Amino acid sequence: MSAATPVPDLRATLPLVPWPSAVEALDAPVAGLAVVRLDAPDDELRELAAELLVAAGAQVDPAATVSVALSLDADAGPAGSASPERYTLRVTSDGVVATAPERVGLLHAVRTLRQLLGGTGGPDAVPAVVVRDAPRYRWRGLSLDVVRHFFGPADLRAVVDLVAAFKLRVLHLHLTDDQGWRIELPSRPELTEKASQTQVGGGPGGYLTGAEFRDLQRYAAARFVTVVPEIDLPGHVNAATHTYGDLNPDGRPTDVYEGIEVGFSRLWLDLPATEPFLRDVLGDLARLTDGPYVHVGGDEVHTMDADEYARFVERAGSIVRDAGKTPVMWQEAARGTLAPGTLAPGTLLQYWDPKADREPFVDAARAGARFIMSAADHAYLDMKYTPEHPLGLDWAGCVELRDAYEWEPEEVIPGLPADSVEGVSAAVWTETLTTRDELFSMLLPRLPAVAEVAWTAPASKDWAAFRARVAGQAPAWRDAGWEFHPTPQVDWP
Ligand code: ACM
Repeated sequence: MSAATPVPDLRATLPLVPWPSAVEALDAPVAGLAVVRLDAPDDELRELAAELLVAAGAQVDPAATVSVALSLDADAGPAGSASPERYTLRVTSDGVVATAPERVGLLHAVRTLRQLLGGTGGPDAVPAVVVRDAPRYRWRGLSLDVVRHFFGPADLRAVVDLVAAFKLRVLHLHLTDDQGWRIELPSRPELTEKASQTQVGGGPGGYLTGAEFRDLQRYAAARFVTVVPEIDLPGHVNAATHTYGDLNPDGRPTDVYEGIEVGFSRLWLDLPATEPFLRDVLGDLARLTDGPYVHVGGDEVHTMDADEYARFVERAGSIVRDAGKTPVMWQEAARGTLAPGTLAPGTLLQYWDPKADREPFVDAARAGARFIMSAADHAYLDMKYTPEHPLGLDWAGCVELRDAYEWEPEEVIPGLPADSVEGVSAAVWTETLTTRDELFSMLLPRLPAVAEVAWTAPASKDWAAFRARVAGQAPAWRDAGWEFHPTPQVDWP
């Protein structure tokens, strides 16, 4: 190599997404990882790790001489990081050692190893590296609409696998809307009996039983993904007002709705049936939910005055808090601060609409709200890639891969204190998405881009390097049967 040969940027040559906090390249590639012994602190982690290594083409054999050793160690991770998710991964000719203070970090380390194994050399020529890593934000998620088109347990487990592959921690499920009610609740069985067999365009719809929802949470939790369920209130409620006439001022059930307009339906806080409905559905949902959050919506209520809206948001939030959960709400709930003190500190607000007036957000942050950034012009993965793309919507513009990658969560709301950003969530709405393949083709390759926004320090991000690294993921996606959109912004292998 002549002195003039540029040193290749590791960020473009190692197939890691999201890019880690610190990567040190060692000498020659490591051979012999095709057959490894796996040591882990418990059986559940060993099984998950084995599944990932096998998916990457390695064999796990207790008699193998080379080992992949996972062990808990408080000193692991980048210098100075206090993140409970931090980890260190050493891949050397002596084998692989992963350390982390918590189990989640060990699984992150295995996912990093899985990406290294799936690189061009395969398990017989794995780059020798030391990775010291920790995420930028705690809340790294995907918000998924299962109402406009229903996606059942098998699809949702595949989504959990995808989310977890890029070290995301939250799967937010939008479970109720105008077109259907998708979660069975013990105190209100009529909701799924009368309002689940519908979806956009007239398909069969469907819903998750309580048992299916619990199973999904267990599957996700084993992979360190928290499920955050949403009942959208006080708008997007036609499934509820279709089920119960007494939620409407005229006492009559509304018609089913299978279109894609928004903003027309609403509840009425002062009708006698409304508060019992809120207590039942939010109470049931909180009891079904293992994680600490319940999302109560709050978006696009176009037919309610500001005072009733603020009272509604306050009531829904306090019912959720009484049930022991932290409420999450769409950005409109920042308007709750119009009545001072109504938006309780610690409430999480999910920012989505870049056209909205920013003032209330800054006020809400000052009052103690924290923000999850789902800026539609970057993180709404139901937006078309290009105007010609056959799937998706375009009200926030097109979102190509580079748009999903190049944005800064702490700058989308000018004036918002940076420390009130809790994290980042991609979102995908399913008006035009009817199958798992269609859904995945919108998520891949853009979800990995948003995952890197959520994980990687801004100074370490680089579009040219990302587009090279994301190309290196495609073989694993093909192996997993995950459909992706081969955007021309990437040179796919
Ligand atoms: C939303 O997109 N209505 C949150």
